[in-house]
Amino acid sequence: MLTIALSKGRILDDTLPLLAAAGIAPTENPEKSRKLIIPTTLEDVRLLIVRATDVPTYVEHGAADIGVAGKDVLMEYGGQLYEPLDLRIAQCKLMTAGKVGAAEPKGRLRVATKFVNVAKRYYAEQGRQVDIIKLYGSMELAPLVGLADKIIDVVDTGNTLRANGLEPQELIATISSRLIVNKAAMKMQHARIQALIETLREAVEARHLG
Ligand code: ATP
Ligand code: PRP
Repeated sequence: MLTIALSKGRILDDTLPLLAAAGIAPTENPEKSRKLIIPTTLEDVRLLIVRATDVPTYVEHGAADIGVAGKDVLMEYGGQLYEPLDLRIAQCKLMTAGKVGAAEPKGRLRVATKFVNVAKRYYAEQGRQVDIIKLYGSMELAPLVGLADKIIDVVDTGNTLRANGLEPQELIATISSRLIVNKAAMKMQHARIQALIETLREAVEARHLG
């Protein structure tokens, strides 16, 4: 059995057409089903439906052999995983953002984010002392109500920032989703996983040529 961990929403939407190139299609709609293990048209391939931030955990521990996760999530997770293929889906940027026109604070910078490890590394590299405030979502609110001076979050169109009177500031990383593979699975099921990686690579290239 080959087990693939995916999250609902944009990753599932953008990954299913790529998996279809390998003859893998869910036998029921994962967006609608309450089931968390979804069989596929290949008898020996199944999908696990997990939270986006949990995908690396399932794959690192071998509960899934393969997964698809945003580079932002992978940067935050760390861990021991193979990352053999950039799927070039769910593209966005990981950025700092703050209130439009706000001056830098006099004291320590307060930064609200769900990417605590990324934030610590980013400011440590700059030799800047900051207070990091962990949030789980709606980061854009934090500067508006005085919880933080800045946020670190993913930005695509910038609409969410604009709608809240914030502006993108520093680019931390350009982001896309990556295929990740469990290290032991890569050894034990090498031929099969390598063949799947190559099929997906061709599907990614075809999508960008076409
Ligand atoms: P969770 O549901 O566990 O809180 P999430 O809300 O971040 O996670 P998604 O919104 O499905 O999950 O995002 C999955 C990945 O897609 C993110 O890790 C990021 O790499 C990318 N992403 C997030 N927001 C956008 C966006 N607005 N445009 C493009 N890609 C995005
Ligand atoms: C993500 C992210 C930002 C927004 C950025 O949220 O958390 O808030 O997208 O995209 P934009 O620059 O195009 O506005 P998402 O839409 O995934 O909702 P979520 O909070 O449920 O993750």
